[in-house]
Amino acid sequence: MENQLQQSAQRKKGKFIAFEGIDGSGKSTQVQLLTKRLKENHIDCYATMEPTHAPIGTYLREILMGRRKADPRVTAFLFAADRLDHLLNEENGIAAKVSGGTTVITDRYYFSSYAYHSGDMPMDQVIRINEQSQEILRPTVTVFIDIDADTAMERILRNRDHQELFEKKSKLAEVRLNYFEAFDKLKDTEEIIVVNGNGTPEEIAEDIWDACKHHFPLRL
Ligand code: ADP
Ligand code: TYD
Repeated sequence: MENQLQQSAQRKKGKFIAFEGIDGSGKSTQVQLLTKRLKENHIDCYATMEPTHAPIGTYLREILMGRRKADPRVTAFLFAADRLDHLLNEENGIAAKVSGGTTVITDRYYFSSYAYHSGDMPMDQVIRINEQSQEILRPTVTVFIDIDADTAMERILRNRDHQELFEKKSKLAEVRLNYFEAFDKLKDTEEIIVVNGNGTPEEIAEDIWDACKHHFPLRL
């Protein structure tokens, strides 16, 4: 049963689009804009995010806010566990949604782990602890919104009353480079689109749509 679910999710009746980028890059804005566009085109569509709002994700948010302490390696494993729960939980697991024909758009997926945790352990090890998720559901496409760490910090400081664990300029600059290292490492098995995140939200949404629309050919 579990195997059947995994195989049919990989066959992807619905599409699975993962948004990636450093904190403040505009992911959640673009998830909303793409979801709206797909819904307007009568495509059954579900927007979600990691860390999730389920128990493991909620615990992770407490670590990110500094309310709980955890060794960075524990944090990396918790993110991998939250991701598996995101895929497989009985209530609203996204693997079942995709195999049932829903297009799922997620704000962050396993490339976030590769980029954020490879300062604490080798990237290959981070990739290994996420192997289950890779087997269950690979994104149809990963959209990386690229901005530099200075711009990200400006946006974060302008718009938030608190800063989280990874929201320091030097860390964000390192994470951005890690993303590119991971994209290069996995270029033969993953479809990755890099968009310039410096325009207006509407301009970026157009670039994303131009790059993704061929995945929705029959219905548009
Ligand atoms: P993320 O989900 O990557 O952290 P958000 O979409 O929450 O990013 O955007 C971070 C902040 O920057 C928000 O306050 C948002 O309104 C603003 N923002 C989003 N996109 C842009 C953009 N293209 N230009 C300027 N500001 C933006
Ligand atoms: P998020 O709430 O998406 O913040 P933002 O909207 O600013 O991007 O992400 C929370 C933080 O969690 C972010 O700093 C990245 C981090 N993170 C990891 O470290 N590993 C992971 O696997 C994921 C999914 C997120």
